[in-house]
Amino acid sequence: MASFATSSTFTAIPATTATTTTTTKRLPNSPLFSTSHQRSKKIHRNFKVSCNIADNNEKRLESENLTLLERHNLDRRNLLLGLGAGGLYTTVNLPAALAAPITTPDISTCKASVDGFFNLKDRVRTNACCPPLPPPTVKSVKKHVLPKCEPVRLRPAAHRVTPEYLDKYQRAMAAMRALPDEDPHSFVQQAKIHCAYCNGGYFQEGYPNKELQVHNCWLFFPFHRWYLYFFERILGKLIDDPTFGLPYWNWDNPSGMSMPAFFEGKILDPNTRELNPAFDAFRNVEHLPPAILDIDFNNAASADFTCVQQIGSNLSLMYKQMITNSPNSATFFGGEYKAGDDPISLQNSKGPIESGVHTAAHIWVGNPRMPNNEDMGNFYSSGWDPLFYTHHANVDRMWKIWKDLKGPEYPDHTEPTDPDWLDASYVFYDENKELVRVYNKDCVQMENLHYEYEPSPLPWLKSRPIGRNKNSNVVPKSFGNVKKVEETKFPVKLDKIVKVLVKRPTINRSKEDKKKAYELLYVNDIKLDGEKFVKFDVFVNDVDDGTPCSPLDSEFAGSFSQLAHYHGNKMLMSSGVTFGLNELLDDIQAESDEYILVTLVPRTGCEDVTVGVIKVELVPSTASG
Ligand code: C2O
Repeated sequence: MASFATSSTFTAIPATTATTTTTTKRLPNSPLFSTSHQRSKKIHRNFKVSCNIADNNEKRLESENLTLLERHNLDRRNLLLGLGAGGLYTTVNLPAALAAPITTPDISTCKASVDGFFNLKDRVRTNACCPPLPPPTVKSVKKHVLPKCEPVRLRPAAHRVTPEYLDKYQRAMAAMRALPDEDPHSFVQQAKIHCAYCNGGYFQEGYPNKELQVHNCWLFFPFHRWYLYFFERILGKLIDDPTFGLPYWNWDNPSGMSMPAFFEGKILDPNTRELNPAFDAFRNVEHLPPAILDIDFNNAASADFTCVQQIGSNLSLMYKQMITNSPNSATFFGGEYKAGDDPISLQNSKGPIESGVHTAAHIWVGNPRMPNNEDMGNFYSSGWDPLFYTHHANVDRMWKIWKDLKGPEYPDHTEPTDPDWLDASYVFYDENKELVRVYNKDCVQMENLHYEYEPSPLPWLKSRPIGRNKNSNVVPKSFGNVKKVEETKFPVKLDKIVKVLVKRPTINRSKEDKKKAYELLYVNDIKLDGEKFVKFDVFVNDVDDGTPCSPLDSEFAGSFSQLAHYHGNKMLMSSGVTFGLNELLDDIQAESDEYILVTLVPRTGCEDVTVGVIKVELVPSTASG
């Protein structure tokens, strides 16, 4: 279906008036980039036209050995002369009715944001995040070939790395930081990858007006798996160690819930003044060790918990996110996103890990004193913090753990099988600076990528929360002025607490019934300003009995949270979240209730948020069906 993907030729980008000034440096000794190939001082890239150059032009270009930039200009001439116009988009356009996998275009069509740079106390952060172009001899993106006969890279838990490992990690990171900015292996370029895939750098192949986005949808896990895979292989190559594995931030284990110690401290050695390559200046100083990550962090105050309570709350949330709210692939991976879909109008749910602990750790680490919570608190800048890659290694580990949970309780812990998920693809520079295309389907078997995670205990597996209001049958009690869903006018505003009664499709479900189908609560068509951090909590049958409900209680279904995208202006987007009710209703002994009381509690950034759909549905288990 996506044959164009592997053979896509580099397409041209006509110049326009909008420009981005760059910090491009010359690379006298970069093996990949000749100076003739450097981006010019002013690069015009914000207007993207995906023009496949006509055959004869192609030959001429080859024979003249023109650089990509020159080709862009030539193509622009063609465009102005009307030569190219007829051919625009023709080879890659897909009929909109036919779903297809999201396909990253070749990188030459990357659109640098025109918003430019932030000078944050002399450190530059930018959302002009396109990668360097390949040499002119490179005409297409190759399909990545999985490694064979290679040692397995062991990814250790960051809080207990050995001094020998730490030395390797620091040498590799220092080497990466020492590369010139325009080198595709440099830390700056690695950081920009995240921004390009999240802040509008790419448009979907075949859909020149549809941005490509790897968050809030089922691309979240596989995209980040590939991103770390190459990051790790580049680091290994820089220290000539094919066994090098990234450290993971073991935030699901009480002993790993603080920021790993070696990320702290600017200077490694006071005598030599050697810099710590894992340090980042833009972190929340109140959250340095020994502070414990709050997986329910809402960017305002953390709950007034003791350490023991905080750990308990975190473990309880991990259980809810990994088990209760993730019974099958659709819930765990998040909503579908196919070619032609506009990523800002996806109304279905993202996965509980993405929305939960993943977002919480981002915003908890980012510096609230920076204009956009840089670095980790905003998508565009996250990759600039080395902790990002260690955080995401644990996110990736959650995928592996979830998949490996076997047994009758977890019949549907498998990856999506839809070809539009399997064939979705991204483009990266590999450890040899070759531009390669990778597919979701090739990262499903982690073993094939030749890395694994050092084991660590999973105490959250035994942290199923306790019901607070046993046998409450809250509905008659709180019926009062709470409306039923069908009497509620949607969309509802979330500028205050929202309560609705939702009718269940059926009641008194037996254990067997629950194996056959998952009862899911959907809070969908959430409209929000994508420029802001947003979080709200969702409770089921929480009665106002004076004791606030916390993540330690089973009435706490979970949260919706969304990290800000820097986009330069208000960005209306939509999203959703799903919660599992099978266990929750047992825990609160409400299985015989006809209605559940759903309470949405705004926490941060919800002033303009609206919710379009609240519903409960039964979703059949694929394994038992
Ligand atoms: Cu791409 Cu943690 O986000």
